[in-house]
Amino acid sequence: MEVIEILREASKQIFENVKDLAGTDDAAGDFGRGAGGDISRNIDIIAEKTVLNYLKKINFECIVLGEECGRVELSENPKGYIIMDAIDGSANAVRGVPFFCSSLAFATENRLSSITDGVITNLANGEMYWASKDKGAFLNESKIQVHLKEPIYKIIGINTSGASTELMKKLHPVFEKHNHIRHFGANALEMALFARGLMDIFIDLRNKIRIQDIAAGYLIVKEAGGILLDSNLRPLDADLSYETRISFVAASNQEILDEIFSQIK
Ligand code: IPD
Ligand code: CA
Repeated sequence: MEVIEILREASKQIFENVKDLAGTDDAAGDFGRGAGGDISRNIDIIAEKTVLNYLKKINFECIVLGEECGRVELSENPKGYIIMDAIDGSANAVRGVPFFCSSLAFATENRLSSITDGVITNLANGEMYWASKDKGAFLNESKIQVHLKEPIYKIIGINTSGASTELMKKLHPVFEKHNHIRHFGANALEMALFARGLMDIFIDLRNKIRIQDIAAGYLIVKEAGGILLDSNLRPLDADLSYETRISFVAASNQEILDEIFSQIK
C-alpha cells in the first residue's frame, strides 16, 4: 500500500469517528496538556487513537509525531515520520464551528523539506486535500492549483490569533488597504483553501505554528504551485522538533507577495 493511501485511509477513519462529535459536550472532555502544549480535548484523543490504531493494525513501520500523544515509535526500523495533527482547529471543533480538519504528513527525514505525502481532510464535510511529491495536489479526485488569474475579489488570509501589539502594528497598513481579510481558525485547512485557489495569499507571522499544523499543508501548497516562504522570504524549511515554531507566507504569485510585503512595516 502506498504511503498516500495509508494517510488517506487514516483521515477517512478520523472523519467517520468524529463527524457527529463536534460541538457536543463529549468533544470537550479535558485530558490535560498534550505534547504540543495545548489542552488535549476528547475529540483530539479520539482522532489520534483512530490513526495510531490503524497504523498498528497495518504494521506501518514509522515514528509518529502527534500533537497530543508526542513521539510514538511504532517500529525499530522506521521508514520515516508520520506528522499528525489529528484535529487542527480544535477550538472550532469543540464549539461546533464547522471549520476544522485533520492533517497527516509523511517525511523520510527530520525536516519539512523531506515530506513526500500530505493529506488534509475537512472534518466538517469530508472533503480531502492531498498531495504526493512531484505528483500534484488534489481535492478528492480533482487536481487543484493556486489562483492564477487576476481575482475578482482579492482574498487575504492573515492569522492574527494571539498576535502581539507589535505585529498588529506592522500588519495594520495591510488591514487598511484591503477589504477582504480572512482568518478561519484552522491553519492546515486555511492552507488547503489557499492551495485550491480560494485565497490569494495566506500569512502567519506570529511565530506560533507547530510542525503538526503545517506539515501536510507544506506539501499541498507547493504541489498546487504556491510560493511558500519563511518570514525572511526564504524557502520555508524547519526541523520536525516539538520546540519548532514557524512563521510563513504562502503566495499564489510574486506580484501579490511583493504587494503585501511592501505594505508590511
Ligand atoms: C491551531 C490552529 C489555529 C492556529 C494555532 C494552532 P490546533 O491548531 O491551527 O488556526 O492559529 O496556532 O495551534 O491547536 O487547533 O491544532
Ligand atoms: Ca490539534
